[in-house]
Amino acid sequence: MQTVSRQPERETIVELLRSVEQQGAPAVLELVGEAGIGKTTLLETVGESPRAGRLVLRGRAAEFEGDLPYGLFIDALDAHLAGISERRSDGLDPADLAELAGVFPALERRVAAPAVLVREERFRFHRAVRALLEQVARRGSAVLALDDVHFADPSSCELLASLLRRLPDGPVLLAVAYRSGRGPPAVASELIAAARSGRVERIELGPLSRADSEALMAAEGLDGAARERLFALSGGNPFYLDRLVRADRRADAGSAPRELVSTTVGDGVAAVPAEVAVVLAQEVGALPATAQAVVQGAAVAGEPFEPDLVAEIAGVHEGEVLLALDELQDHDLIRPTAVAREFRFRHPLVRAAVYHSLRGGWRVAAHARAATALGRRGAAAIARAPHLEQSARRGDSDAIGVLAEAGRAAAGRAPASAARWLAAAVRLAPTHGPGSERRLELMPELAGALASVGALERCHEVVVEALGLLPEAIDERRTALIAGCAQAEIFLGRYDQARARLVKALDSVGDELTPVRVGLQLALASCAAYVNELDLALLSARSALDGARQLGRPRLHAGALSILSLSAYGAGNLDEAEAAHVDASALIAVMDDGTIERHVELLWFLGWAGWFLGHYAAAETHFGRGIAISRTTDARLLTEMTVGRAVTLTWLGRLEEAVASSQDALEAAQLNNNPSRLMWCNIARCLSLTAAGELEAAVAAGEDAVGIARKLGTSVISAAAGWGCAAAMIEAGQPGRAVEMMLEMLGGPDLPRYYAGMRPLCYGLLTRAEIQRGGGAAARDWAARATASAEQVGSVLGRAHGDLARAVASLGGEPALASELALGSAEAFDRTGAALDAARARLLAGRALIAVRDRQRAGEELRRAEEAFAHFGATRLRAEAVRELRRIGRRVRSAGRRGAVDGGRLASLSGREHEVADLVTARLTNREIAAQLFLSEKTVESHLSSVFVKLGVGSRTEVARAVEEARSAAGAPRTARPLTPPGP
Ligand SMILES: Nc1ncnc2c1ncn2[C@@H]1O[C@H](COP(=O)(O)OP(=O)(O)OP(=O)(O)O)[C@@H](O)[C@H]1O
Ligand SMILES: [Mg+2]
Repeated sequence: MQTVSRQPERETIVELLRSVEQQGAPAVLELVGEAGIGKTTLLETVGESPRAGRLVLRGRAAEFEGDLPYGLFIDALDAHLAGISERRSDGLDPADLAELAGVFPALERRVAAPAVLVREERFRFHRAVRALLEQVARRGSAVLALDDVHFADPSSCELLASLLRRLPDGPVLLAVAYRSGRGPPAVASELIAAARSGRVERIELGPLSRADSEALMAAEGLDGAARERLFALSGGNPFYLDRLVRADRRADAGSAPRELVSTTVGDGVAAVPAEVAVVLAQEVGALPATAQAVVQGAAVAGEPFEPDLVAEIAGVHEGEVLLALDELQDHDLIRPTAVAREFRFRHPLVRAAVYHSLRGGWRVAAHARAATALGRRGAAAIARAPHLEQSARRGDSDAIGVLAEAGRAAAGRAPASAARWLAAAVRLAPTHGPGSERRLELMPELAGALASVGALERCHEVVVEALGLLPEAIDERRTALIAGCAQAEIFLGRYDQARARLVKALDSVGDELTPVRVGLQLALASCAAYVNELDLALLSARSALDGARQLGRPRLHAGALSILSLSAYGAGNLDEAEAAHVDASALIAVMDDGTIERHVELLWFLGWAGWFLGHYAAAETHFGRGIAISRTTDARLLTEMTVGRAVTLTWLGRLEEAVASSQDALEAAQLNNNPSRLMWCNIARCLSLTAAGELEAAVAAGEDAVGIARKLGTSVISAAAGWGCAAAMIEAGQPGRAVEMMLEMLGGPDLPRYYAGMRPLCYGLLTRAEIQRGGGAAARDWAARATASAEQVGSVLGRAHGDLARAVASLGGEPALASELALGSAEAFDRTGAALDAARARLLAGRALIAVRDRQRAGEELRRAEEAFAHFGATRLRAEAVRELRRIGRRVRSAGRRGAVDGGRLASLSGREHEVADLVTARLTNREIAAQLFLSEKTVESHLSSVFVKLGVGSRTEVARAVEEARSAAGAPRTARPLTPPGP
């Protein structure tokens, strides 16, 4: 049968691609419909008419390749990459190339050092794929057409979801086709989100019209009644129609009449409507016995298949297989592929129908033969795993070994596949008696893989089951599992359950001093510190410290000191916290990475203790070391460490790095879908973006964090989400919401839900919010509380926050006092290294000094603040300082001359940002820039805002000045350099 039109759909597609190419902006085509309705046929028309500079990349997922990690993308991109690497990277960043080489076979051997994929950093690989598409599109445009997404492996789905979440920049059309209602959940939900932003064109393919169906049957010489009957039977589905017409021909030739039932055969994505299954079964049934065996063997082998493997599975001589393949091709059941000796089924529905028609026993035996045959050929564990999963016997230790190996091989890049194979291995391992040890070994690995893909409930179940299998006596292994179980419970917000589990375990170990007991005390202390139960935290940390000292175990000793420091800070015992911090830092400084490796949480606790106490540089060192160690080991706490570093960098005024780190952490957390981690990452994002002046995004991140916190329940982190979000709201001019948020999340005016040491800062925020909404008296009350809490705590940092709060409250009535307090706190902040807070205090001092008419000193303080903000990239705060300076008639030198926007800063712009900055300098509007660069206006806006941040400026004029000055310094002409439009 020939192809009929689908004209309206084809026009929609042509129009969509045209607009992508004209506007230089990305778009998504979503093609859905039932099995056999014509999605693949239509998808093949996308980008079919050639256009200079357009590259069309096509990939298709196959049911049986379901667990080949990134199979769909390898299919689409590998051939292109093979070309790219020969011509040397072609403008791709070497780091991206190394990431790609970790997955794509075409690059594997060509890139000297492929990146080792770290499970928690899969987002780096995703970014590299995005960069690849952008690079392809720079030469014209790119179409990435992904078919049969319903069969895609979990890693491909994750990557696709991530591409949909952040579409490649530039003229890229992402076309995806999948069966209605069978879209992988991660992909489907991103498609819904992307549709909301108007970037998705969705085509739902319906049945062919009667006229189109007639046209398809025209050449078949059927009479009108037969055509009518076949059309009705097919429901306008071209695949069914095709098979029914064939069956009809056979019926004419004397084969058995059809009997139609209306159910489906098989389940999930592979379900086949019964009519079709029956028709196909009859087709197969009419074949000679050898051909039947061969097609059945091929259905077990998976796609694409090779004759020799099919021969072994079907128990047929290879020569006969080749003959049978010809016969199957004549019946249009299979087709050769472009690769020699490789065949595919004519359609996935054909394979599914044949596979589901197999009798259970034969199917199991056939999979077993496939596994053995592949084993003999030395095939990789990952190729044998799907067959073993279907055929291996319980307790088959070889099969368990292969499945475990497949799981481990996938662990780094494809944790979802790892979880599947490890789960299969666990299922085969005996629960009791000989071999059961194996099960216990595999379960923690399975739990790790499950946690990494956000299947926390399943992960928790596995750990609980493993605990049930272990002997009752509490030893190191059991302790580790109990701690892991409590961790999963904390992630899930089940704080009471976690605490109860640890308390019970401690009760049952008795009073004897052992490392196990101390380990449990540490786990309990950290759990209690997390939920702000500081008496319990202190008690446990102190006795853990005693125990660790007596046992003479440095690792436990350092752990106890770190948690003690944090708990004591929370309880307001600053001296104890400081002393423990000093001792822990000294111990950890002399520990080598190998010792810390399996206990990297030490660095996490110590980093936070340092941050709370205001030892920012030390905190940054600890988190940085934690990140480095995590990357080379199990990456368990990589996201946590990155969050810690992002927050610390914010306080140090290294905002660009802080924003980038928080983005890294968030992307990682989105992949493993762990609510607690998402909350932490959003807090880090909120804080860093607030400081950088990107307030809309900051408030949004803060609100996300609070939304999660409300679901998870009260903890120190939910309090942090509250004040972080409130800080963003204050900056964004929403003081009323900020006050409400603070009181809700921190538990009322006494702020009982948060660490004592942090109260001065939090009262300071409440003071600012009240001043902003004109509540002078309320502001003074909060400021008084800030001072009182600072006195109670007695730390330098706390006093600095207390003084700053009073300065804020007294600025209107007693500016002299305000300036004195603000200057004092600025110096204190400087001493602790809180660079951003120091500059804020100076800004306030400058305002107060203006009010007392001390213009000279006001100018000096404001200038210092302005320079600091410019250096940090705190755009909005800098703009505020500039405004104050102008109020007192100070000329504000352009950022460029002062070295704030020096060559280095300009050099930090990306290629695109440079182009945008150049065109801004040539005084083009955003719309004109968009047209010139083939970008959308929104994209230009987002480039421009990152230009502002990177150059530390607040206006287009300042961008222009910075660029012009850099040019004249370099002796270049003052006009914009001519642009070469993108093209081949
Ligand atoms: N417009 C058309 N005109 C003629 N035949 C068509 C048309 N569309 C599809 N077909 C035929 O129907 C069969 C099924 O089409 P296709 O493979 O495109 O369906 P699909 O929606 O991709 O199915 P699946 O969900 O199984 O992937 C094909 O073999 C093709 O030849
Ligand atoms: Mg298809």
